[in-house]
Amino acid sequence: MLEKLQEILNSAKQTVAQIDDKVALTQASATFLGKNGALSGLMKGLRDMQPEERRNMGEQLNELRDTLIKLFEDKEAEINHNLLERKLSSERVDVTIPVHPKEYGCMHPIEALKKDIIDYLITLGFELKDGTDIETDMYCFEKLNVPKEHPAREMQDTFYIDSDTVLRTHTSAMQVRTMEAQTPPIKMISAGNAYRIDEVDATHSPIFQQLEILVVDEHVTLADLIGTLEGVVKKVLGEKTEIRVRPSYFPFTEPSVEIDAVCPKCGGKGCSTCGDTGVIEILGAGMVHPNVLEGCGIDTAKYRGFAAGFGLDRLAMLKYGIEDLRDMYENNITLLKQSK
Ligand code: DAH
Repeated sequence: MLEKLQEILNSAKQTVAQIDDKVALTQASATFLGKNGALSGLMKGLRDMQPEERRNMGEQLNELRDTLIKLFEDKEAEINHNLLERKLSSERVDVTIPVHPKEYGCMHPIEALKKDIIDYLITLGFELKDGTDIETDMYCFEKLNVPKEHPAREMQDTFYIDSDTVLRTHTSAMQVRTMEAQTPPIKMISAGNAYRIDEVDATHSPIFQQLEILVVDEHVTLADLIGTLEGVVKKVLGEKTEIRVRPSYFPFTEPSVEIDAVCPKCGGKGCSTCGDTGVIEILGAGMVHPNVLEGCGIDTAKYRGFAAGFGLDRLAMLKYGIEDLRDMYENNITLLKQSK
């Protein structure tokens, strides 16, 4: 009988040693420990034994049962452990693999430039005003001292929506709207799109961006204009940049000036960027014409003003070394990244 027990134990050990999954283990466990298993067959045999032998045998059988249970439990733990190990190694993340760096976007060169200028002017006490792209003839021209038939209209070939409505040819209309809405002192910036009928080429586009400034106060002079704009030019093109002021003509300013910067590329010697002139036109400006001030109900005996308008596209090209205006509107990512 004892041999039989030893046989069962050996057979169980052998079976379990070959098992590697839970289903097989459950089956094997039933074979040895189940209702109709090897052990319960022997248990049944106890009934026919003498009391002494039965007790002895019963003890042996209980011991074998405990050994078998432990054998199966240990195997189950081993299978679970192996399963977990396999799962962990198949799902392992190698934290040492270099990550692909994320690409961060950046401001468009024109936006970056606009923001720089606006931030600078705000530190000088200027206020930002929003205008609209669609303007009336009255605000775009008439109130800026450019009546119908004035030759200056020729310079700004215009997209007319109807005879009184235009896509603004410049941001200067916001000067008038601000002066009508506010009493001096006024320090205003307005920036945005302007439109003129132009062929598209490396330096022209029918849509471009302008930034306008206007100051109206009691003791405003041409020196204030020059000082303010010199600050802006230095801010954009570098502190060492020198400016040149020369007389010009705009119907809405008197006197009118044009401000040039000494070419930041060649330092004034002449190069392809400045067309060998040594200087680059940056903006138009002037003292606000009395007709414009009076048309907005401002007392010219008390107040004066200066105003200026920049083309932002060309300034951005200059600042970021962009040679073709079209690149700024055509999603040329390498080039646009320059304003990062
Ligand atoms: N509006 C002008 C243009 O588009 C630029 C300009 C010149 C604006 C003189 C001004 C100014 O405010 O005073 O060419």
